[in-house]
Amino acid sequence: MVVGGASGIGKACVDAFVREGAGVAVWDISSDVESVTERGAAEGRSVDIADESAVRSAVEATELRIGPIQHVVHAAAIGSGKLGFPFTCLQPSDWARVLDVNISGMVNVAHAIAPGMVDRCEGTMVFVASVAGQIGSPTDPPYSASKAANINFAQVMAKDLASSGVRVNTVCPGMVKTPLNKSVWKSWNDRQTPEQQLDYDEWAAEKIRQLVPLGRWQQPEDVADMIVFLSSARASQVTGQTINVDGGYVMHS
Ligand SMILES: NC(=O)c1ccc[n+]([C@@H]2O[C@H](COP(=O)([O-])OP(=O)(O)OC[C@H]3O[C@@H](n4cnc5c(N)ncnc54)[C@H](O)[C@@H]3O)[C@@H](O)[C@H]2O)c1
Repeated sequence: MVVGGASGIGKACVDAFVREGAGVAVWDISSDVESVTERGAAEGRSVDIADESAVRSAVEATELRIGPIQHVVHAAAIGSGKLGFPFTCLQPSDWARVLDVNISGMVNVAHAIAPGMVDRCEGTMVFVASVAGQIGSPTDPPYSASKAANINFAQVMAKDLASSGVRVNTVCPGMVKTPLNKSVWKSWNDRQTPEQQLDYDEWAAEKIRQLVPLGRWQQPEDVADMIVFLSSARASQVTGQTINVDGGYVMHS
């Protein structure tokens, strides 16, 4: 199952799992989600992951339709849509929806899905977090903090569920051209003087030059490839890990 599979990285994951021959269920808040069946997915369901009861009903409906959920990819997230540098540019109220979708959404999905995996003694979950969750990115503090929470809660679950054979990991992209990434540029650009403004590609090129050693965008498919690997039996010894697919943006010692 791919949560947030109507766009960007989630969409690339849907295509990658379909290529692997998986029966893929896709959830997203976007009405575009229904069109995923045209790309080979088994179902596309409109779900707001911030709504706990909607998530529980969706798990029941999805499992009734395509069987037990064996692998979850959680790629749904939002930003505040505002430039939060310094953080006082935002109001505390700007945090609420971001935390609701990015943290409570993850919690709702995990609570609805983990018990079935534990009963069956198998399953994998991959949560898409971000380099922002590791470095305190000075663009969107609620987003950055929520991504750190994704990493931490995935580690908690990895420990809790290991004895049941369920593996949980996070994958952290750095710069991927998607609507979410473009919204970060827009919130930056809206705050610049006309002389300082850059178009999206210029802004990204400068950021990549400064921050990404490999010097290029990551493609949605680069992230999807790692997620397919982590979900597969070839990664059977990998759990509780934070894997950066970021061109070297963040390096672990
Ligand atoms: N694009 C990047 O540069 C980048 C970098 C680091 C991390 N990420 C992470 O990658 C993941 C995917 O983001 P993306 O860049 O592909 O963005 P995207 O905007 O293309 O995709 C996000 C999807 O989540 C869905 N969504 C949002 N709120 C939802 C809700 N309440 N319920 C259900 N679905 C909801 C959206 O409709 C959308 O289809 C996110 O977790 C994001 O934090 C992206």
